[in-house]
Amino acid sequence: MDTITALTTRVSSPRLQEPGPSDSQLDLLLQAAIRAPDHGLLRPWRFIVLSGDQRERLGDIMEAQLLEGQPEADQRTREIARNKALRAPTIIVAVAEITENHKIPAWEQMLAVGASVQNMMLAAYELGIGAMWRTGAMANSDLAKGMLGFQPKDQVIAYVYLGTPASSLKSLPDESPADFIRELP
Ligand SMILES: Cc1cc2nc3c(=O)[nH]c(=O)nc-3n(C[C@H](O)[C@H](O)[C@H](O)COP(=O)(O)O)c2cc1C
Repeated sequence: MDTITALTTRVSSPRLQEPGPSDSQLDLLLQAAIRAPDHGLLRPWRFIVLSGDQRERLGDIMEAQLLEGQPEADQRTREIARNKALRAPTIIVAVAEITENHKIPAWEQMLAVGASVQNMMLAAYELGIGAMWRTGAMANSDLAKGMLGFQPKDQVIAYVYLGTPASSLKSLPDESPADFIRELP
């Protein structure tokens, strides 16, 4: 698939199954990620790659984060939270490690990591790997950030779920760039 085709047809894969990406494919995704634009060359992106049993550690974090907000959560709710870490063969956690008090503001550093995630999404699509960008409460929890090895100032940008699409890819929405063009007032 050529890049323009990938750019104009990419869709997410919400349901994923084994096998996950190979080591060489993961390396390609990460190489694409670190070619994202980055104001000031601060290199704010950090990636935690979790496959197989390593995802249980992420399940621990998901359960801890649930219990922080709902200490009385029952066993079933806890299992549901833990199982979010097992929804895909591989999960890449993308975090913006923010350089504070810098002329490049935090929002630009976060966008650079967002661009790196999109590079990964596109590379995955081009390689035939299903991918889904997720965030949710786990992206903003200081507890989760700490358990991932980061500080409250840092920002989880994405949990990128990767694997083999478990169903056929959805069709593209009927949209045109013209829908989003505005004229200067
Ligand atoms: C920053 C960001 C966070 C997202 N978080 C979630 C999420 O937590 N759960 C979810 O279902 N979709 C989430 N999405 C949206 C999906 O990844 C996906 O883009 C959306 O369902 C549209 O599908 P498409 O990518 O095939 O157009 C997020 C997207 C972005 C850019």
